[in-house]
Amino acid sequence: SPFLTSEAEVTKPLTIAHRGASYDAPEHTFASYDLAIKQQADVIEIDLQLTKDGEVVAFHDETLERTTDGAGLVRHKTLAELKTLDAGSWFNKKYPERAKAAYSHEKIRTLDEILARYAGRAKLNIEMKVPEKNKGMEQQVALSLQRHGMLTAENFSNRTVVVESFTPASLKKLKTLAPGLPLNQSIWKGDVRKLAQPELTTIKTYADSVSINYQDATAENVRQLKQAGLIVRSYTIDNERDMERLSTYGISGVYTNRPNVHVMITSDG
Ligand code: G3P
Ligand code: CA
Repeated sequence: SPFLTSEAEVTKPLTIAHRGASYDAPEHTFASYDLAIKQQADVIEIDLQLTKDGEVVAFHDETLERTTDGAGLVRHKTLAELKTLDAGSWFNKKYPERAKAAYSHEKIRTLDEILARYAGRAKLNIEMKVPEKNKGMEQQVALSLQRHGMLTAENFSNRTVVVESFTPASLKKLKTLAPGLPLNQSIWKGDVRKLAQPELTTIKTYADSVSINYQDATAENVRQLKQAGLIVRSYTIDNERDMERLSTYGISGVYTNRPNVHVMITSDG
């Protein structure tokens, strides 16, 4: 199809390690990202929150309770305060069958620490979380990518780093700060059906890909999105049957907590 762009031409959907290999290791820790690379994921997915002192950290929730021994909002804590927290023991308690003693030493990581450790070893997919509350996050993300030499034409064309958000305004802001950086419009579960041609045309003005919930994905809506010139990815798929189903739709990437399962499924072609 003349509509397809490079990532869409891949015969095998990219394996996007959702929060790292987060089925087997505590999400958004070095343990989880290291394991994603070991399991041969193509892309590591990283959610970002902003600290009280304006640092960007890898963290999914707005609050600390679920995945650390701390409490309260991430944005109400300084980086120094967050660095005292244990980001792994919750996993050992919740999933004793997958627990490892070493996980109890895992820390919250900054985007800078992550770029220093993983740039060049895997592609990175970075999500700016709740940008309407994490004010100025776009600037911090652009500066961090710049510091690590990631804002290059080669990286842009290889989609070495993609930044995603559910919030269009945040992507548009980042587009002005880092022209050329590939951007992904994340689509809330249930919202794919709201996307007709005018909405797709609008998305195309600032983003080159979309991510849709796998329970919304059909052969028909994936085809429509691709015909609008968008790369299509789907989140978050952990079981083999859905991975097989989605692969017949021509999607370009699968977000999964179990990169080893997706790599195994796609390796035979
Ligand atoms: O593209 C959406 C993907 O990042 C999954 O979303 O809610 O797990 O951060 P979430
Ligand atoms: Ca995410």
